[in-house]
Amino acid sequence: MEKTQKKGTVKFFSGKQIPLEMHKVRIVQSLKLVPVERRLVAIKEAGFNSFLLGTKDIFLDMLTDSGTNAMSDEQLSKMFVADDAYAGSQSFVKFQKSIYDVFGKELVLPVHQGRAAENILSQTFVKQGSIVPMNYHFTTTLAHIQLNGGTVVELYTPEAMKIKSTHPFKGNIDIVRLEELINKKGPENIPFIRMEASTNLIGGQPYSMKNYKDVRQIADKYKIMIVLDASLIGENAYFIQKREAGYEDKSIGFILKEMCDLSDIVYFSGRKVSSSRGGAICTNRKDLYNKMKDLVPLYEGFLTYGGISIREIEAMTVGLYETMEEDVVGQSPSFINYAVQELDKLGLPVVMPGGALGCHVDARQFLSHIPQSEYPAGALVAAFYLISGVRGMERGTLSSIRDENGNDILADLELMRLAFPRRVFTLSQVEYLIDRLNWLYQNRTLVGGIRFVEEPPVLRFFNGRLEPLSPWPEKLMAKFKADFGDSL
Ligand code: F0G
Repeated sequence: MEKTQKKGTVKFFSGKQIPLEMHKVRIVQSLKLVPVERRLVAIKEAGFNSFLLGTKDIFLDMLTDSGTNAMSDEQLSKMFVADDAYAGSQSFVKFQKSIYDVFGKELVLPVHQGRAAENILSQTFVKQGSIVPMNYHFTTTLAHIQLNGGTVVELYTPEAMKIKSTHPFKGNIDIVRLEELINKKGPENIPFIRMEASTNLIGGQPYSMKNYKDVRQIADKYKIMIVLDASLIGENAYFIQKREAGYEDKSIGFILKEMCDLSDIVYFSGRKVSSSRGGAICTNRKDLYNKMKDLVPLYEGFLTYGGISIREIEAMTVGLYETMEEDVVGQSPSFINYAVQELDKLGLPVVMPGGALGCHVDARQFLSHIPQSEYPAGALVAAFYLISGVRGMERGTLSSIRDENGNDILADLELMRLAFPRRVFTLSQVEYLIDRLNWLYQNRTLVGGIRFVEEPPVLRFFNGRLEPLSPWPEKLMAKFKADFGDSL
C-alpha cells in the first residue's frame, strides 16, 4: 500500500497547461441547478448565510473540503471489513500502524474531528494567561485557546497579506518576531508554538521546510514544544516538493515524515487530511500522551474508537497512506492553480499563488465599494450563489469576532473561499465557475452590503442570520435574467 514514488507531470501536445485527473469516476451523484428565482428565495431563507443553505438548492458545493473529499475504492472497501468493537478493535491497530508509517509517531489518540483534538490540547496545555504563537489562527483553534484563558499571537510575514504575490511560502511564520515574543512574554508562558500546514484562513498557503526547521531551533533554544496542525499537511508537503530547493526529488512520504519529526505533537482533522471522518492527536512523547489520554474517554469515546465509527477508522487508515501519493495531494492544488491563473488573466482579484483547499477571491478589491463593516466577503458569497448556484464560504470579518466594546474586529483579509474538495469536481465545472464569477465581476457594482439580524455570541458565522442593506439581490437577479435569458 505504501506508494511513495514521485511522478512527473503530463505535458499536452497542444502546449495547453491543464491539470490531468489521475483517477476515474465510478460512483456519481446527480446535481441540479435550480432557477435563479428559487436561488433568490433560498438565500433569503438562509439568512444570507451560505452555511444555512440546503443542498437541494446548491449546484456546486464549494463550502468546504471538510468531509467532502471523494473517497477511493480502497477506502470504501476497507470500511466493510471493520472490526467493530467498543474496546480493543483491531482496526485501531491498523490505524496506529498508519500513523507510524506516515507521520512517524508511535502514540495516537483518536478523536471525532479536528476541533475535538483542539479541545483536548487546549484543556491540557493552555492556562489563564498563556500565549500561543502561530503562523495564523484557524477559527476553532482560536475559540478553544481563548475558552481556556489563552491568547493567540499570529506571527505571519508581510507577504501573507499580499493578495497577489509570487512568494512560494506565504504561510511562513516570522522567526524574528517569534523570538522577540518569547523574550518579551517569557517561555514559561508559552505552552506551545502552533504551526498550521497550508494555512487555511490566508488562502491555503504553505510554509517551507526551512522555516519549520528555524522554528524547531527556536523551540529547542527556549524549550517550548511545537504542535503541528496537520489537517492540510499533504498539500503543504506537495508544495514543498514543487517549490522548495532541495526537495524536488524527495517523495511526499519523505517530506511528511520530516515535517512530523520536527513536531512534538501532530494533530489533524481526518475530514481533510485522510478524506474520511475523524481526527487524531499523535506524539512520540509518553509524558504528553499521558497528560491528554484521560480526556479522550471523557469527551470522545474509548481510546480505540475516539467517537467515530470503526468503519471510519478503517477509511482514515487508508486515507493516511494515500496522503503520501502525489496524485492524491496534488489534485486539488493543480485544479486551484488552473482556476486562479484563468481568473487572474481575466483581471479578477484572487489570492496568488494558488494554494491548497480552494480558490480565494479578494472581496475587498472585488467589492471595493462595500466597507468591511458591511461584510463584503459575506455579500460576495451570497451574490455568487444567487447568480451561479455555487456555494462558497465567507472567510473575513463575518467569520471574525467582536471586541469587548461590541465592535467588529475587522479581519486582515476579506475572502470568498471556493473549496475544491479532492477529486470531486470536473474541469468543465471549474470553467462554469470561472465564467459566472467573471460575469459577477463585470456587474459587481450591483452588489450591496449585509448586516446581522441574529448574531450568535460564539462562532457566529455558522448560524448567524443576515439581511441585505438594500434590495440589491433583486436588482442583481434582474440583470442576470436580462443577460442570460432563460438560462439557469
Ligand atoms: N484545523 C484546520 C487547519 C482546519 O482547516 C479545520 C477545519 C480544523 C482544524 C478543525 O477541524 O472541522 O474536523 O473540527 N476546517 C474546515 C474548513 C471546517 O472548512 O476549513 P474539524
